[in-house]
This record gives sequence, C-alpha cells and structure tokens, in this order.
Amino acid sequence: MKYLMSDQTLFRDRDVFEADYHPEQFNYREAQLREMAFAVRPALVGSRPHNVILKGLPGTGKTTSAHHIFSEIRETTQRIVPVYVNGQNDHTRFMVFTRIYEAVFGHLPPTTGISLRRRLNEIGKSLRDRGKVLLVCLDDANYLLHEGVLNDTVFSILRLYEEFPGVRSGVILTVSNIETDFRKELDACVISTMQPTEIYFPPYSSDEVKTILQERIQQGVYPGVIPGIVFDLIVERALLAGDLRVGLDLVRRAVDNAEQQARKTVEPGDVLSAHEISRNIHLTNSVKVLNPEEKKMLRSMAEYSMQEECIMCSGDVFAMVREETPMCYTTFFERLKKFDEMQLITIRSSRGTGNTREISLRYEADRVKEECGG
Ligand SMILES: Nc1ncnc2c1ncn2[C@@H]1O[C@H](COP(=O)(O)OP(=O)(O)OP(=O)(O)O)[C@@H](O)[C@H]1O
Ligand SMILES: [Mg+2]
Repeated sequence: MKYLMSDQTLFRDRDVFEADYHPEQFNYREAQLREMAFAVRPALVGSRPHNVILKGLPGTGKTTSAHHIFSEIRETTQRIVPVYVNGQNDHTRFMVFTRIYEAVFGHLPPTTGISLRRRLNEIGKSLRDRGKVLLVCLDDANYLLHEGVLNDTVFSILRLYEEFPGVRSGVILTVSNIETDFRKELDACVISTMQPTEIYFPPYSSDEVKTILQERIQQGVYPGVIPGIVFDLIVERALLAGDLRVGLDLVRRAVDNAEQQARKTVEPGDVLSAHEISRNIHLTNSVKVLNPEEKKMLRSMAEYSMQEECIMCSGDVFAMVREETPMCYTTFFERLKKFDEMQLITIRSSRGTGNTREISLRYEADRVKEECGG
C-alpha cells in the first residue's frame, strides 16, 4: 500500500489558496493601481517617485497591488530597483537594508563584520554610479513603528541623496490599521521629506467578495466540489470576518476536510470545522512574528484577562507582567503599542484620571494563550 499518492485530489491547483499566491485575475483595484502608477512614473525617467501610503483593512489587496506594480516595473524598466520588504519578518533598519542590498547587488551581503553604515555606503554608491532609482515597499510598515525603526528607516532611504548626490529614492508604505496616522507617528522632518500621498483601499462589497472567491475556486478546485449552499456559507463567513483571506483559507481547509474523508464534495460541516481555524488566521500569523519575550507577555495578558473579564487596566497589567519578567514601563508600553498596531489588542484611554488605559484582547483569551505557546 502506498500512502502518499493514494488519494484522489479535489484540487486543480492547491497553491492558488496559499497566502503568497499572486492572483492573475485582480479586479476592483483599478483606481488604486492607477494612483500607484502615477506615483511611480517619474522614476521611469530617473526622477524621484512620489511616496505613497496604502491604507485599508486586512485583505483589501494592498500587498497584491504592490506586487502587481513591482512586476510591471520589472517587465518595463531596468532603471528602477524595486525592493519588497515584509515588515512582519524584517523589522529592523539593518534587516531592511539587507533586503535593499540584496536587490541592488543580486546577492545577500556578507553576514559578518559589515556595519549598517558600510552597507548604506555600498548601496548609495552603486545606485549613483548606475543611475538607478530605488523604490522600497515597506509592507505592513506599522510593524516597524516600535522604537522609531520606521522613522529611521524611511529617513535613511529618502535622504540617500544627501551623501550620494543624484540618487533618487521613494517608498511605498502599507498599513492595515486604519487608526495609524504616520503623520503623527513619524518625525516632522521625515514627513516633510516624504510628503506622502495616501491611497485608500476600501473593503470589498459582498458581490466583489463573491466574485473573487468564485474565480479562485474555479481556478483551484474541480467543478462540483463546492455546492452552491456551501459556497454561500463560505462567502457569509468571509464577509463576517471582513477579510477575504479568511474566505480563501476556508476554501482550502474545507476541501482538505472533504478530501481527508474521501468525499467528492464539500459539506457545510467541513466549512464549519475549517472556520474554527480560519477565523483566527490573523492571530496565528501575527503571533508567529513575535519574539519569545513578546509572546510571553501576550500570553500573560491572555491569562490575566481570563480573571479580569475582558477589560484590563494598563497599570494592573504592568504590575502583573513585571512580576513575571522585570522590565521598565517604556518597554512594556512599546510592546503594548506593537500589539495594538498588530490588531491583537485594543487600547483605549480610560475615563479616569492620569495615563491609565483600558486594554482588551481582540481574540478569545484561550486561543491567544494557545498560539503563544508555553
Ligand atoms: N481584487 C482581488 N482579486 C483577487 N484576489 C484578491 C483581490 N484582493 C485581494 N485578493 C486576495 O486576498 C488575499 C489578501 O490580499 P492582500 O494580501 O493583498 O491584502 P492586504 O490588503 O495586503 O491585507 P493585509 O493588510 O492583511 O496585509 C490574497 O490572497 C489576495 O490574493
Ligand atoms: Mg498585506
């Protein structure tokens, strides 16, 4: 008996449901793509591009749009060096410049003994000597807000021309937290250099969500595998979550469930059990990028919130967290802000006096605990 190859698959192409898949059919973002192209266009002739901020709720197509524009750049010109940086993975200035180095030179920099300064110099010289325009997309830029990382990174990118006259550079920042206002978060001198244009990505309408999911299903799953009633349930859950990604993940997991039970069609029960995992996909992905100390703090907060019935007060949380791991209030508050930016918690100013904040988790405490591990 062979185990690996024994099952028939219901997927035509399973990859189309993966998080890093770039869809061929990409509709409803015409206006945003046009605006982005307008911002990038000056770079085609060696001038400085306009800087843009792509803002919209999770799953509204910001990352996909950035990839779309970047692949068009690669097809059209050698003049621009497009650099894509995932802020969730590369969250220090050094890491961002490592990515930039890789794009400029076509290989990673030596891993030891190379300072940021030297890396910056090599990048600046190469761009100047080859007359290239640097365009960096800092995706999920809000992950870099802590400890002034975003500020310093954007500053270093946009001020390259000071040390290397003639070098032109621009940034595309994306953010899914609507409340984040980079104009307030970044220093005035960075904002005045940046002069960003904000491009808004509105949530998809229910008809748009339906069509996108339908197209993806046609591409990725054999006909008849997902009956109409099951499709409606998937759409309903995706709309409820307000995130297309939940819908795509639901399809993949529900079809997996049906496959596992050797059925040829997906049943509502497959979707419902898949939903238990899919609805927390944002939580799972976010926790993955936290460092061990941050995970530990979030886990403690989850445990604490179980006693406090949802709303916690910042002073009490600090006292509790500090008992487990000694830290100063600044570190504690930086981490809180990071969790807030990552939409894992909500922070509100308390009605009481002083700087007290009310904190609540955005996910069920036991799920948060589980994701953060022991
Ligand atoms: N217009 C569209 N057509 C087809 N697929 C889309 C469209 N918009 C988004 N998607 C799909 O939805 C998923 C989420 O899109 P994307 O990653 O671009 O969202 P995002 O705005 O960057 O979200 P986040 O803020 O959470 O990073 C991806 O799998 C993408 O392929
Ligand atoms: Mg994104």
